[in-house]
Amino acid sequence: MELFKVGVIGSGAMGSGIAQVAALAGHEVHVYDANPVAAQSASNNMQISLKKLVEKGKCTEEKYNLVSQNIIFQSSIEKLNTCDLIIEAIVENIGVKQEVFSALESIVSDKCILASNTSSLSITSIASICKNPERFIGIHFFNPANIMPLVEIIPALQTDSSVTETAIALIQSWGKTVVVCKDTPGFIVNRVARSYYGEAIRMYEEGIADVATIDWAMKKFGGFKMGPFELMDFIGHDVNYKVTETVWEQLFYDPRFKPSLTQKRLYEAKRFGKKSGMGFYDYREGAIKVEPTEDDELGNYIFNRITAMLINEAIDTLYLDIASKEDIDLAMTKGVNYPKGLLAWADEIGLGSVLEELESLMATYEEDRYRPSVLLKHMVREKKHFY
Ligand SMILES: NC(=O)c1ccc[n+]([C@@H]2O[C@H](COP(=O)([O-])OP(=O)(O)OC[C@H]3O[C@@H](n4cnc5c(N)ncnc54)[C@H](O)[C@@H]3O)[C@@H](O)[C@H]2O)c1
Repeated sequence: MELFKVGVIGSGAMGSGIAQVAALAGHEVHVYDANPVAAQSASNNMQISLKKLVEKGKCTEEKYNLVSQNIIFQSSIEKLNTCDLIIEAIVENIGVKQEVFSALESIVSDKCILASNTSSLSITSIASICKNPERFIGIHFFNPANIMPLVEIIPALQTDSSVTETAIALIQSWGKTVVVCKDTPGFIVNRVARSYYGEAIRMYEEGIADVATIDWAMKKFGGFKMGPFELMDFIGHDVNYKVTETVWEQLFYDPRFKPSLTQKRLYEAKRFGKKSGMGFYDYREGAIKVEPTEDDELGNYIFNRITAMLINEAIDTLYLDIASKEDIDLAMTKGVNYPKGLLAWADEIGLGSVLEELESLMATYEEDRYRPSVLLKHMVREKKHFY
């Protein structure tokens, strides 16, 4: 595997990070970007970030030289012809991705594994353009790829099991935590995490609490590092809203995943959050800091409601056999830094209490959004635990 030559297509935020991870693991990495300006700036930024790692003592001078030598920027896609694995990290557009893979198949050997880092597109659908879809797989890194430990591996319907096994072993050898999931919208993390944002916005829209209070509640009672509104502002509403909309559309408009008008308007106004100076919060100079209402009863209500929705989604992900219980818990702790795995947390809170919370919401709102997972109901009836 050390002899593996890795190709990376796209040298933006994700491609640059993935290239560094592979190079640090000792691979020769060939990077191609259709935009030479983007490639040049990626090359410069990589040198700067690697030097920083050396200064912080996180990378030896020797390794720095090795990585610098190992990453080769190529001016044409044809130069990736000797790669054993190619990971694509270009624009999130299925037509453009399919064109790239179609071109790649006529360049690389039959044994070369082709992978996409897509966050929201169907792996099976991208694979369908390939003459040899058995070699195609989803390898989904998290941003920043050189720091975040989690990688989701998503075999397409057509993927050969030997390709999945090779991908798992290779990415683990890069020091990453690997989880495997079915090719379903949002995979594990981007599916399960939707309720963290959606239910928080719902309570804000209903006037139950303001954004600062909801953020305070999730940090104080849940131990989350960031509240939902802080996190959405950090991710950016351009990215976060689009993921929500895509997951909802691809799940045939399941009301549990329904996006909110509040976030859509922020997106339309280009109030993307921290990076644009305004989102749910105001980040401009001189802006007044919004203080939460530190009411424990209200805080507990907020925490119980959001956590029940998150747990319900994690349970349904297991029920639909999208991933194993261990992988669902690993994904949320390693991919989005949740304080605990949601299924382990469900055991701790008590499955009966989670079901009660959802049934109470269902009785109040009479909306399918709050329907408890069938697995949760079975488990409560049979007095079972996840662990
Ligand atoms: N940014 C994230 O947080 C994140 C996280 C996980 C996965 N992803 C996924 O990774 C992929 C890349 O995202 P990003 O944030 O790095 O995007 P980005 O915009 O930062 O970079 C994309 C790069 O691809 C290049 N490119 C576009 N079309 C190309 C083509 N046809 N051939 C070669 N190069 C081309 C662009 O010039 C650009 O440099 C997307 O599929 C995205 O969904 C993103």
